[in-house]
Amino acid sequence: MPIVSVSAPAPQSEYDIHIGHGLLEDAASLLAMCRGRRVAVVTDDHVAPLYADGLLAQLEAAGARACLCVLPEGEPTKCPEQLARLYDAFLDAHITRADYVLALGGGVMGDLAGYAACTYLRGVHFIQVPTTLLAQVDSSVGGKVAVNHRQGKNLLGAFYQPERVIIDCDVLRTLDARQFGAGLGEVIKYGCIADRALFERLEALGSREALLPRLDKVIGRCCEIKARYVREDPHDHGVRMQLNFGHTLAHALENAMGYGTLLHGEAVCIGMVAAAGWGEALGVTPAGTQARLERLLRAYDLPTQMPEGLSPKNLVETMALDKKAEGSSVRVVLLTDIGACTAMPLERGQLARLLERGV
Ligand code: GLY
Repeated sequence: MPIVSVSAPAPQSEYDIHIGHGLLEDAASLLAMCRGRRVAVVTDDHVAPLYADGLLAQLEAAGARACLCVLPEGEPTKCPEQLARLYDAFLDAHITRADYVLALGGGVMGDLAGYAACTYLRGVHFIQVPTTLLAQVDSSVGGKVAVNHRQGKNLLGAFYQPERVIIDCDVLRTLDARQFGAGLGEVIKYGCIADRALFERLEALGSREALLPRLDKVIGRCCEIKARYVREDPHDHGVRMQLNFGHTLAHALENAMGYGTLLHGEAVCIGMVAAAGWGEALGVTPAGTQARLERLLRAYDLPTQMPEGLSPKNLVETMALDKKAEGSSVRVVLLTDIGACTAMPLERGQLARLLERGV
């Protein structure tokens, strides 16, 4: 079973990500640290009927006393009101600082339960059991936890590392094809920014069907890459920005089209193709990279084309509101090759011209 270690900054220490098939059916040993403790399992009403009973049985087998908090599925749940419901549930269940919060679900559950774990009693132990590909390769690793404010996404947040991450690839069998694709967009991103061999492996496999039997290795590689960024830049002040390849435009697209129209990972695919084109136009990215990336995304049935009818000027205005914007310029990650990248400030006018030319 692949295990990836993540170095977390003090006061939290190193933690392991366990990746394999069927881990949730036999998770008692991976949950042994919960022996004699209470565990609040936070999940949503889509995941609960699929996996909650099995996980509660494994927690019982590990000697823990578990209780279940089930919230509505979807991004609107990542809000201060649902956070308050969790605090109430933890208090009712007498969760103390010696006890655990366990997130079972996708990125929404991980972010919300993680923020609750970080702030309740100034921090209780936290475990992540991600059930979407996107959460397995990205949001469950690295400690970013948050809830949304009505003025924007993730505005109330913290860095709070889990004590353990358990990734069971078998849970992806119940994930719908579109959500799976959204996670694949992030997998391809890791190849683009940091691992040419991963990119070429995905090219050689050439389809979702061929990838499935190798998914544990590929997820393991993505977690290794993410763990390296987290080790080098745990609080996102420098090199971790590279993980945002394709994200600056993606966030603007999600905003312009209305959240939920494009899944985040789908918007990232379009954003990566655009950023590869910008890099080529500016002489930073080798010619032909954009076409190669588009071919790979299409092989995995992922979107590559900018949606019609969006105003470049409005997109740039939204990009300028991004946390990564600086004065009159926006920091954008560009590929210097397949498997290597750099972050560069681009002037708003320059970005608008690139978007108008549709490169
Ligand atoms: N999702 C990007 C990061 O964790 O930094």
